[in-house]
Amino acid sequence: MRVREKEDIDFLHECFNDIDFWGEYNHPAYEQISKSTLINSFDNPSDFQKLIEYKLFVIEKKDGTRIGIMWHMINQPSEEMEIACFLVPSERGKGYATEATQLMVDYLFFNRNIVRIQVHTNVENKAAQKALEKAGFRKEGTVRKHAQLVRGVWSDFYLYSILREEWKEPKILTKTA
Ligand SMILES: CC(C)(COP(=O)(O)OP(=O)(O)OC[C@H]1O[C@@H](n2cnc3c(N)ncnc32)[C@H](O)[C@@H]1OP(=O)(O)O)[C@@H](O)C(=O)NCCC(=O)NCCS
Repeated sequence: MRVREKEDIDFLHECFNDIDFWGEYNHPAYEQISKSTLINSFDNPSDFQKLIEYKLFVIEKKDGTRIGIMWHMINQPSEEMEIACFLVPSERGKGYATEATQLMVDYLFFNRNIVRIQVHTNVENKAAQKALEKAGFRKEGTVRKHAQLVRGVWSDFYLYSILREEWKEPKILTKTA
C-alpha cells in the first residue's frame, strides 16, 4: 500500500466511476468525476480535505497490479481517525482487506499520536465486518440511519474501533527507530 500518485489517475478514475467498486452497502463517495477534476484535486486539495487531513492510498499486489484503495481522515470535530477500504470486485475474498487494514493500523499508530482508529460499516456488510475483526477491531454499537445508500434507503451502520492499547504489537510493519 502506498500513497496515491498522479500515475494512478486512470485506475482511480475507473474505480470512482464504477458503482460496483463502491459495493452494494455503501453510498458512492463521488458523483461521476472527470480525469481533469481528479488531477486538479491532487494539485489543489479543498479546504475541507485539508481540514480532515484526507489521504488516499492505493493497494497494490506484489507484482504492481492496483487492486483497491484505502483512505484515512479525521472525523471532525472529535479528532477520531477514520479509515475505509475498497477493493475491485475481482480481488475480494482473498484476504487483501484484512492485510491492508492491519498495515494502515500499524502505520497510523506508529506515526500519529492517536488513541483510536474507527470504521463505520453497513450492518449487512459481512465481509467488511469479518475483515475488521480479523484485523483486531471491535464492534462498538449501531449508528442508526448513518448513511443513505444508492437507491435512497437510509441504512444502519456498525461502528468498529481499535484502541492503541488493543494494538498489542504491529502486525506487518516494524519499528526502525
Ligand atoms: C469489504 C471488503 C473491503 C472486504 O475485502 P476482502 O479482501 O474481501 O476481505 P478479506 O478477504 O480480508 O476478509 C473477508 C472475510 O469475510 C468473509 N466473508 C465474505 N463474505 C461474507 C459473507 N457474506 N458472510 C460472512 N462472511 C463473509 C470471507 O470469507 C473472509 O473471511 P475468511 O478470511 O475467514 O474466509 C471488500 O469486500 C470490498 O471492497 N467491498 C466493497 C467495498 C466495501 O464494502 N468496503 C468496506 C467499507 S466499510
